[in-house]
Amino acid sequence: MENQRGSWGSNIGFLLAAVGSAVGLGNIWGFPFKMGKSGGFTFLLVYLFLAIFVGLIIMCAELALGRKTRKAPIAAYQAVSKKFKWLGWLAVLSPFLIMTFYSVLGGYCIYYIIINLIGIFGGMPEGMSSFVNMITSIPISIGILLAFMVICFFIVAGGVDSGIEKFNKIGMPALFVMLVIIIIRSLTLPNAVEGLKFMFVPGYAVKGGFIESAPNLVAVLGTAGGQMFFSLSLAMGAMITYGSYLGKEENLVKNSGIIVFADTLVALLAGVAVIPAAVANGINNGIPVNEISLGGPKLLFVTLQDVFHNMGALGGVFGVIFYILVLIAAISSAISLMEVLSAHFIDKAAEQGKTVSRKKVVMIVSVVITAIALLVAADGLGSNGFSPAEIFGSAKVLDWNDCWLDFFDCWSEGIMMPLGAMLMAVMIGWEIGPQLTLDEVAHGDPSEAFKKFFTFCIKFIVPVVMAFVLAGQMIGFFGGHDVLFYIVSAVILAVFWVFAALGKKEA
Ligand code: PHE
Repeated sequence: MENQRGSWGSNIGFLLAAVGSAVGLGNIWGFPFKMGKSGGFTFLLVYLFLAIFVGLIIMCAELALGRKTRKAPIAAYQAVSKKFKWLGWLAVLSPFLIMTFYSVLGGYCIYYIIINLIGIFGGMPEGMSSFVNMITSIPISIGILLAFMVICFFIVAGGVDSGIEKFNKIGMPALFVMLVIIIIRSLTLPNAVEGLKFMFVPGYAVKGGFIESAPNLVAVLGTAGGQMFFSLSLAMGAMITYGSYLGKEENLVKNSGIIVFADTLVALLAGVAVIPAAVANGINNGIPVNEISLGGPKLLFVTLQDVFHNMGALGGVFGVIFYILVLIAAISSAISLMEVLSAHFIDKAAEQGKTVSRKKVVMIVSVVITAIALLVAADGLGSNGFSPAEIFGSAKVLDWNDCWLDFFDCWSEGIMMPLGAMLMAVMIGWEIGPQLTLDEVAHGDPSEAFKKFFTFCIKFIVPVVMAFVLAGQMIGFFGGHDVLFYIVSAVILAVFWVFAALGKKEA
């Protein structure tokens, strides 16, 4: 049974794959735009705090859970917990829902590679018209989605070491080199320094006129927390699954540290590549700084395409490099989401003493994802007349119902992910106890100081932060006021303490 499961060829192969899962659209697109919306430097500080006190802890816990049980998420949770058995289902349903729109966004990158490639030979396309052409053409949207899914299918079907690991071993270094090229180009644009100041000078977001007033710290906590989880591929079963293929002798604390560090570094570098370019291009074309679009899908597909458009002849070359980089990041994350789902079925069959063909399982997973993704693709971010709000005749168009992408995002990233992470922390910290994780981690010999740090964070910091993140995400999606935010946070916290108390009583 053991041999049927895949395993990594080497620790460095595992690391590149885990970093590949972490580094994705969340880093290159989400991080810069959330930083753009949520107050520049303040966001950065909060993000770094969360990455260390929450991200690192959950990363370690997930890798340990996977390696200890040697199982995919559903079975892994069932193996360690009585009360939270069902949490594994969240960790499988979320990646599925994420893939229904992640694949569409991956397809968008393919489209932009093609139009920039054509642009090299004349007629560099401008941002807005390219974007509108793409999302309003159902055949184009579906074609690029299918192309993306076919690429992912072949990689995942290739296996853990000869598919996923191999792709990341080439893809990750290539991505890094391309990112450096784009950073150099971005920082040498006139006025790029304004973008750098926005990112790194405290208070400059307001002083420089990018945003009107200082951001609400609690709201920033919610946004940064959600972003950090998504970016580190946490609470989606991905790290449990990747951890389940890892050798006992590998050091989990060190590996977790490297993954968190690399992911944060790439997010920062992506910020340095994207924000100064967008700001410089805006200023150079007479757009007031507060009107430069740093938020939403437009940043990646309109604002940045305009940057390449305005670079003249060489713009196409930089455009192709940039969108290939984003495509690699999207693929390396998508394959980890697909692996979570595939691993579940492969393990299930093995448990029943059956052998299933990996190719067949991955094929079924790909087809089911694609079937729902077709709706998201054809919807074109709500521009083709059948968004959830239009179909269900909602009176109000909010973030959760304005398009199918946001609808699936709301369920997965907005609700299941923070809820799953919070309950996971409650499970580890209060039900089964941190010792189980620490014993597993101990194979790699962590220090006493780490044990104390882990225990304190998983019991107290993670659940509290996650309650805020959950409340922040819900209010972001469903609309609401600050007061509501505090009420929802308080309710979630209260529920948490009840769970915690119950867990303790039984232990
Ligand atoms: N971490 C990926 C990103 O930043 C997204 C992802 C989330 C991948 C969860 C796998 C699991 O884009």
